[in-house]
Parts: sequence; C-alpha cells; structure tokens
Amino acid sequence: MIRSLFDLPDGLLYFAGHSLGPAPKLARARLLETVDAHWGARQVRSWTEADWMGLAERIGGHIADLVGARANEVMVADSVSVNLFKLIAAVCAIRPKRSEILVEADDFPTDAYVAASAAAALGKTVVLAPRQGLAARLNHDTAVVITSHVHYRSAHAQNMQALNSQAALVDAPVIWDLSHSVGAMGVELAAHGAQLAVGCGYKYLSGGPGAPAFIYVSQDMQRQLRNPIAGWMGSADPFAFRQNYVPRAGAAAFASGTPPILSLIALEAAVEVIAAAAPDKLQEQARENGQAFIDAIAPHEAQLGLTRVSPIISAERGAHVAYRHAFAPAIVKALEAESVIGDSRPPDLMRFGFAPLYVTAADARAGAAALLRVLRSGIYRDKRFAA
Ligand SMILES: Cc1ncc(COP(=O)(O)O)c(C=O)c1O
Repeated sequence: MIRSLFDLPDGLLYFAGHSLGPAPKLARARLLETVDAHWGARQVRSWTEADWMGLAERIGGHIADLVGARANEVMVADSVSVNLFKLIAAVCAIRPKRSEILVEADDFPTDAYVAASAAAALGKTVVLAPRQGLAARLNHDTAVVITSHVHYRSAHAQNMQALNSQAALVDAPVIWDLSHSVGAMGVELAAHGAQLAVGCGYKYLSGGPGAPAFIYVSQDMQRQLRNPIAGWMGSADPFAFRQNYVPRAGAAAFASGTPPILSLIALEAAVEVIAAAAPDKLQEQARENGQAFIDAIAPHEAQLGLTRVSPIISAERGAHVAYRHAFAPAIVKALEAESVIGDSRPPDLMRFGFAPLYVTAADARAGAAALLRVLRSGIYRDKRFAA
C-alpha cells in the first residue's frame, strides 16, 4: 500500500482506478522537470540529451515485467484501439486465406468497432461469440481472435492459457486486451502461451488521462508480422531519413509516429512507482479488497435491490466488482457526495475498482458501508442525483 505516493485527498475512497488511475506524485515532479529543464531549457536537443527517443521502448520494458513478457516484446504506442487495428491487420496479412475475425461479443465496444473496420478494409467477416463460446467457434477459417482478459463490466477473469491452447490447435493467434488487468492483476503472457496483446496506460497503470497504450508482440510473432502502419518511428534509424523502410528490432517496430513525450514521462513515472511496490503481490491485494467489499454487501444484497454480476470466486475475478441496480447512476452520484468514487455504465451497472496500490481491505469495507447507507436512506432518489 503506497497511497501516499499518489495525489489523493485524505478521506477520499477512490474506487475508479479501472477508469482513470490517480496521479502519482512522481509523475507531477517528472513532468515539471521535463517542461522546465528539458523542453524549456534544452528544446530540440532533449530528443537525444534526455533520451526522449528511447522512452517508449524503455517503458515497454517495465510493462513487460508486469505482464510476464520479455523486454523487447512490449512497446508503448498510440491507443488500444489503434494497436488492435495494427495487430488484426498484421495477422490477417499472414493468414490471407482465412476469412473470419472472431471477436468476443459484449466486450468493450472499441474492440468490436475496430474489428469491424479492419474486416471491412481487409475483406474479412467478423464472427461474434460470448467469451464462454469463443473456443467452440474456432475453426480453420479463423484468422485471429480478440478478447479481453478481465471483462470491463463483470470483471470476469478469463483463463488465458486455456483459450491460447485451443486457438493454437487451429493456428489462430489470440489478441488479448489487458486494459482491465495490467497494474492490478498477475498476467503471465509468455507462460500462458500468449502471442499478442494490447493494454491501456491510463487505468491501473496510472499513466494519466489519455496516456499511451502498449502493444505486446511475442518474439515468435515478431519474426512473422509487419506493422501495417509502418511509420518512421517504427523504422530502424528514423533520423537517417532513408527512403526505404527497415523495421526496428523487437516490438518497437510497431511504433508508427512521433510519441507524446509529456504523456510518456508521466507513464514512466507511474510504472516505476508500481515496479517499486512488489508487483507480484498486486493481484492478491486487489482480490482481497474485492472480497472484503463483496462479503460486506452480500447479506443485504437482495433486500436492497442489488445484483452482483462479478464472480464470487476471487480467482475468477479482476480488480473491480460490479453490481446491477435500477438506480445505479444516481447511487454512484450519491456516493460521490460521500467522497466515495466509483462509476456507472448504462443502463444499470455500477463498478467499484479496488486498485491494490492505494486501496486497502479496510477502505473496501468502508466503501461497502457507504453504499449500504446510501441504499438504506434512499437519498439517491433525491433530485440532485438524477441523471
Ligand atoms: C477493455 C478496454 N479496451 C479498450 C479501451 C479503450 O482504449 P483506447 O482509448 O486506448 O483505445 C478501454 C477503455 O476504457 C477498455 O476498457
């Protein structure tokens, strides 16, 4: 628990790290230093003097440690959406005869939107299946599979190894969306046979609003795939300004354009904070927090109109817990008035994220008590909390 390393006001129970992680104090210090000492004092010279050119790859190396990958298998670049498109197009290019892109139905919408636009551009068909039904839909026409590790609504944590093994039988790589895992869950990409993944920098990683995302390409896949948006930043020596494109080594070849240095500075600080905080213990703490919340709510759930949608078994759950209630948006607003920050998703879902770095089991219990108070008092029906 290193709450003091984050800019969080005393008394605030912050359960929205699954949406936007709070600001690490180190990120603020590094940003100020970059603006003053580098951008301010040394301008364009900072690309080399402050090694801005090496930043995205270096952070990729730190993230690799958090997701069980090798340093040169992870690159920070663009957004999850853009990285997903790159991977789908790259895989389809080496599976020209396969016509189907298999996508988890009801996953975070961007994944299906991107799959549909890639399919339209590449002349493929999107096949949607619920996560429990993905394996059954695999066949020799499946070019690639897109699914998330932890589901953004239910927090259900998928068995990565099982799906990778089943997909390997038809030689179709799975692209894992790690947005709701990285920084809060133990992820073992290499050990669980994952070849490709993408993930968010602004949720549990706390890299800041709009922080760049990351892309994971296993060494085996690096030998086969080409970045379909082959820009100069993914080329071997951008400042040689050669006319012929030669890709950079490793996952860094999946960079395209100029990286957002200020955002990378914040993300690097955030990832350093996590790396210094016993990352192997993160998942245990997150699940303990979630269990404390679930246990405190359970005896009162039915009576108060709540339906838990997250798995009760902690091994099957990510770092947040979600409930349905007809007045979910108003309840979340009423909790905010009590300094408890969660979020809601239409029509009736509320989510509470228990990021292990700045939330304890005692915080989770205090949050549960606040939720029970709000529900029992009926205050959420007040006009001020109406949508
Ligand atoms: C599972 C998941 N994937 C992708 C995204 C969007 O990522 P990006 O905005 O970087 O494209 C989100 C955002 O909340 C998400 O929850």
